[in-house]
Amino acid sequence: NWNELKEQCLNCKKCGLCETRTNVVFGVGNPNAEVMFIGEGPGENEDLQGEPFVGRGGKLLDKMLYSVDLSREENIYIANIVKCRPPKNRDPLLEEQEACIDWLRNQVMIMRPKIIVCLGRIAAMKLIKPDMKITKEHGIFFEKNEVLMMATLHPAALLRNPSNKPAAFEDFLKLRAKIDELNQEA
Ligand code: URA
Repeated sequence: NWNELKEQCLNCKKCGLCETRTNVVFGVGNPNAEVMFIGEGPGENEDLQGEPFVGRGGKLLDKMLYSVDLSREENIYIANIVKCRPPKNRDPLLEEQEACIDWLRNQVMIMRPKIIVCLGRIAAMKLIKPDMKITKEHGIFFEKNEVLMMATLHPAALLRNPSNKPAAFEDFLKLRAKIDELNQEA
């Protein structure tokens, strides 16, 4: 179950990132939610606090979530492809992603979300398709194993390139519309 999975994950030594981490960042939010957000991996603040998306990018993410009636306190869950911070915030190596991905697979198996939103290219390539072109294909829903998957731009990328914020906001509106659509069918 969820608590056992978390307990085991917090003690994980499956890859080298365990040597340099401060905290394992298992995830945050409501494990009964229908919507899951997946980032790339913890940065410095996340490593120190043990929670995903707590820096400036996290603030921006929370605002965008709030604008479509979503919040990490209530109706979504947020996790990452890798649970430990890669040194100097480099991209997680493929071998680190492979070593870590079963934690996420198990989280998804237990949660059974209806929608998964990938934050940024790394998560999109790992979870949706290896040749995902996020600049072209963000905001599009793909169905995989009966889960709807969509990618949007990474909050850190939006901080670097604020002119992309409207495009990302469109993705959040599409997400809201999809959630409403699914709940009408149910
Ligand atoms: N960036 C990510 O991809 N994940 C986090 O948890 C924080 C920053």
